Amino acid sequence: MAAKESSESRNQARLAILELANMISVPMSLNAIVRLNVPDAIWQSGSNTPLSASDILSRVLPSGGDAENLQRILRMLTSYGVFAEQIDSSGERKYSLTDIGKTLVTDDEGLSYAAYVLQHHQDALMQAWPLVHEAVKDSTVEPFVKANREAAYDYYVKDPEMNELMVKAMSGVSVPFMKAALEGYDGFKGVEKLVDVGGSGGDCLRMILQKNPNVREGINFDLPEVVAKAAVIPGVTHVGGDMFKSIPQGDAIFMKWVLTTWTDEECKRILENCYKAVPEGGKVIACEPVLPEESDDSHRTRALLEGDIFVMTIYRAKGKHRTQDQFRQLGLSAGFPRFRVFHFDSFYALLEFQK
Ligand SMILES: C[S@@+](CC[C@H](N)C(=O)[O-])C[C@H]1O[C@@H](n2cnc3c(N)ncnc32)[C@H](O)[C@@H]1O
Repeated sequence: MAAKESSESRNQARLAILELANMISVPMSLNAIVRLNVPDAIWQSGSNTPLSASDILSRVLPSGGDAENLQRILRMLTSYGVFAEQIDSSGERKYSLTDIGKTLVTDDEGLSYAAYVLQHHQDALMQAWPLVHEAVKDSTVEPFVKANREAAYDYYVKDPEMNELMVKAMSGVSVPFMKAALEGYDGFKGVEKLVDVGGSGGDCLRMILQKNPNVREGINFDLPEVVAKAAVIPGVTHVGGDMFKSIPQGDAIFMKWVLTTWTDEECKRILENCYKAVPEGGKVIACEPVLPEESDDSHRTRALLEGDIFVMTIYRAKGKHRTQDQFRQLGLSAGFPRFRVFHFDSFYALLEFQK
C-alpha cells in the first residue's frame, strides 16, 4: 500500500526531489565564486582566515557589490563542503576554504581546478544542457552539435580563448593526478621514446620525463591548433595531427582522458592506430575514468556517472565512461591481447594495453 502523504518517507521524498530540482544552483554558484575569484581572495598566501562576505567582497570587487548576495552563495556552497562557516558572537558569518575549496586556489604553477569549472560552464557548453533528452531521441547528433552546429573540439580550436581555457583546465586537473600516479607506477621503465596522444599542452609528458630519465624523447601529439600554442618543454617535440588518421611511432603510447570522449568504433580506430605505432611487446598506457559495475550514491560513483552524462551531452552521444571490462574489450577489438589496470586515484584508473 502507498505511504500516506504525511508519512516521514513521503516527506523525505518531497524534500529530495526539491533538492534535485534546484540542483542547478550548485554548479552555477560554484562558477560564480570562481568568476569572482573568491577562493584566491580568501586564501591570500595560505592565511585562509575566516572572512565575512563584506571583507571578501572588498577584496574581489573593490568598486563595490552586493555582500548579502555573495553571502547567500557562500552559505549554500558551505552546505556542499566548499567553504567552512563560522558565526561569531555578533551573529556575523565568516567563511574560510575547506579542502574542497582549496582545490580552486591558484598554486605556484598557476594551476587549480578553477579553470575546469569555468571551462565546463562556457556559453557554448551551457547551450547544450537543455537538450540532454535529445541524446535519447536521436543519438546520431550530440546535444552540443544541435546547439552549436559543430563538434566540441572543432568549436574550441576555432576560438583562441576557448582553446586556451581548455588547455588550462586539462593542466589543472591532470597535474595533481600525474603527481600521484607517477609515485606508484613504474611502467615507463625501458621506454625511450614516448608519444602522448591528445597530450594538450604537454604537462603529462613533461612530468613523465622529469620522473623517468630513461624516457629521452617525448612526442606531444594533439590537434595542430592545440600544439601551436604549447610552451617549449625540454625533450618534448609538439606534433600536430589527427589520431584517427595516424599516430607517431614510439616505444610506448601514453593517452590520458581521450578514449572516454569517443564512441566504441572511434576508440577502436584510435587503438588500432596506437597498435601500428608501437613495436611488438610495446604498450599503450591510458588513464581514463573507470565506472564501477554497481550503482551507488558515493561521491566517487556520482562524479563518474555525472561525467558520463557530460560526455554524452558535449562530446559524443555514444562516447562514454566505461567499466574495466568494456576497456578490456576495446583493447581486444584493436588487437591488444594483454590488459592490466592500476588504481592510484578515485577518478582515473591507469590501463595498460600490451601488444
Ligand atoms: C580531454 S582532453 C585531455 C588532455 C590531456 N591528455 C589531459 O588529460 O590533460 C582530450 C585531448 O584530445 C585532443 N584531441 C581531440 N581530437 C583529437 C584528434 N583527432 N587527434 C589528436 N588529438 C585530439 C584534444 O585537443 C584534447 O587536448
